Amino acid sequence: MVYACPQCRHEVVPEAASSRPPAFSCGTCARRFPVGDAYANFLLDVSAVGEAERAARDRQARQYDAGRVREKGRLYFRMHGAVVRRLLREAPRGPLLDAGSGTGIITEELLGAGREIVALDFSEASLAVLAEKRLARVTPVLGSVTALPAPDASFPAIHCSGVMQALEARERSLAYAEFARCLEPGGLLLVVAWNEAFYRAQGEPTRGRFGSGIPYFSFTREDMVREARAAGFEQVSVRPFGIVLNLQVLPGGRYLFPIVGKRLHPLEGWMHPLLPADSRLGSEYWLLAARKPA
Ligand SMILES: C[S@@+](CC[C@H](N)C(=O)[O-])C[C@H]1O[C@@H](n2cnc3c(N)ncnc32)[C@H](O)[C@@H]1O
Repeated sequence: MVYACPQCRHEVVPEAASSRPPAFSCGTCARRFPVGDAYANFLLDVSAVGEAERAARDRQARQYDAGRVREKGRLYFRMHGAVVRRLLREAPRGPLLDAGSGTGIITEELLGAGREIVALDFSEASLAVLAEKRLARVTPVLGSVTALPAPDASFPAIHCSGVMQALEARERSLAYAEFARCLEPGGLLLVVAWNEAFYRAQGEPTRGRFGSGIPYFSFTREDMVREARAAGFEQVSVRPFGIVLNLQVLPGGRYLFPIVGKRLHPLEGWMHPLLPADSRLGSEYWLLAARKPA
């Protein structure tokens, strides 16, 4: 993996083997990036909102990994992996950036795409859980989606799931701009993010703060399209994801989902390519697919 300085975007080089602790350093701005046992640390300063999210993720990482699988069911993540792997067939060959990989529940499902994966997250505890899984062909990296430690045009595909809803508008536009910078021309971006209609249907606020302090936002289809296009993406499509036959946008869907919805995911994984990309069907999530212009 070739890294770039997230501050000035120039390539970084490993320091002499004798330097302690081991580190990369930037030949241009001289900033140092320490390398730990499991991953290199390319994290710059994080915004106040980002810091609340990061601290909460660090506190919850271990419970998150087990709790999330319990909550959604393994089949949900298999469905996610199957849908994304199928879309990745349309991307140029080469490594995948899993931006905001968390503890790697979905990263693991993406391995079947046969690509090297860079799993980037800004929560050290989440990356530690991911690193313990010792996934072959996965390189964990500590960094932010708003300042990627990667050279321009270095990835043919980027997957970013469950992250945008924690970022404020300014940070989302930084993240989309970074994805555009780091994708090859013609590269594929896949973003999974929360659907505003789901919150409305539950009678819950469409944005706010969880008890943990983590802020959240949710989006209309138009929001998703607008933000990707503003960063120069083309061929933008936004489709429902995790629709379980529309269950999750029904009032009470949050409660029906664990009982009925979970069991329908294999069916949905199979149906997904048949769903019209621009249908008005609702779901808990949107799946955006977009291209960097060739
Ligand atoms: C809900 S988890 C999603 C994990 C995984 N991608 C999935 O879909 O299951 C969100 C992850 O995004 C990470 N995250 C949030 N903001 C980030 C940022 N600015 N840079 C890097 N990671 C971020 C959090 O630390 C957390 O691990």
